[in-house]
Amino acid sequence: MIFARRTTAPSPERIARLIGLGSYLPPRKVSNADLMSRLDTTDEWIRTRIGIAERRIAGPATATSDLAVEAGLRAMKSAKAEHVDAVVLATATPDHHVPGTAPLVAHRLGLRQVPAFDIGAGCSGFVFATTVAAGLIHAGTAGTVLVIGAEKMSAVIDPADRSTAPIFGDGAGAVVLTTGRADEPGALGPAAWGSDGEHADAIHIPDGGSRRPSHTTGDLKNQYVHMKGNEVFRHAVRRIAQVTQESATAAGWAVQDIDRLIVHQANARISAAVAGKLGIPPERVPSNITHVGNTSAASIPLLLSHSALDGQLKAGQRVLVTSFGAGFTWAATTLLWPAGLQALA
Ligand code: COA
Repeated sequence: MIFARRTTAPSPERIARLIGLGSYLPPRKVSNADLMSRLDTTDEWIRTRIGIAERRIAGPATATSDLAVEAGLRAMKSAKAEHVDAVVLATATPDHHVPGTAPLVAHRLGLRQVPAFDIGAGCSGFVFATTVAAGLIHAGTAGTVLVIGAEKMSAVIDPADRSTAPIFGDGAGAVVLTTGRADEPGALGPAAWGSDGEHADAIHIPDGGSRRPSHTTGDLKNQYVHMKGNEVFRHAVRRIAQVTQESATAAGWAVQDIDRLIVHQANARISAAVAGKLGIPPERVPSNITHVGNTSAASIPLLLSHSALDGQLKAGQRVLVTSFGAGFTWAATTLLWPAGLQALA
């Protein structure tokens, strides 16, 4: 079977370049011990099977847009940008079905009437959004784009479901991309991406969409995420390894050239299996899942931000970001880490 995975090669004079990075986590920490008080689980099981010790959960008055605004503000400050030409927001947990969340975020950021739209590609959403934003820059449609990944996963996770509640957390991260040249620090390489809807029910919310509108069904459980963990795990390892390899090849890199592999934080064992399959040493694979859990579309920009702040991302390093999520979807892209980029969290 042939999949259309690669974007077309852009002009080397109109490449998307990273100039700003920010993130935001809601303050409330929920530990494994907190979960044990209401779920049949243990701290040891969650740590060893998933690699998570705590996650952040937003309060009832906070929506995804609130998290997105905080991350967007920080990314724009980091970029020293007062304006952008477009806002692309990746989320699986929009404030409402209608309207999109991005216009609201753009409005709250004071960006006037810029084009702003949502992208839904599950946990791959941020890399999809980055790829679309890079395409706008390549085409000359936009000069500078704010790309945000934001999720309030706690809004769609059943607190009584021990197969999902320990995994997911809330948060947001954002980057600012602008026009640059292919040889400049911060330049993004070509993306590799794909999807396979055959596995649409492996991670899904059965009710509440046009297939089964919430007013026609009575089972509240079906308005939460349902996940076939084993199936997701298997496909995630295979697809992330594959798309990572494709992205590296498209950039003209060998996998051994990757200085830092930024993997979607789904499960520490998934990241370890991918690194093992590709022969990438663990010290080149930063992680923050222990403290933030799986934040879906926010995961990659949060990890970029935390890794930059930890000093794990240094100017000139070859960085590859790679993701997998509901759909199934997968996506990866490369970049040369820029000098002087100050992440704000
Ligand atoms: N606490 C304690 N025990 C649990 C548990 C929990 N929260 N959840 C499941 N178990 C038990 C099961 O009942 C089972 O017990 P049994 O052997 O007595 O029947 C055992 O642990 C193994 O269950 P299994 O479902 O096979 O666990 P697993 O090792 O596959 O781990 C996941 C489950 C969900 C952690 C794992 O499949 C996973 O991470 N999948 C990918 C999920 C993901 O990344 N999703 C997002 C993608 S973007």
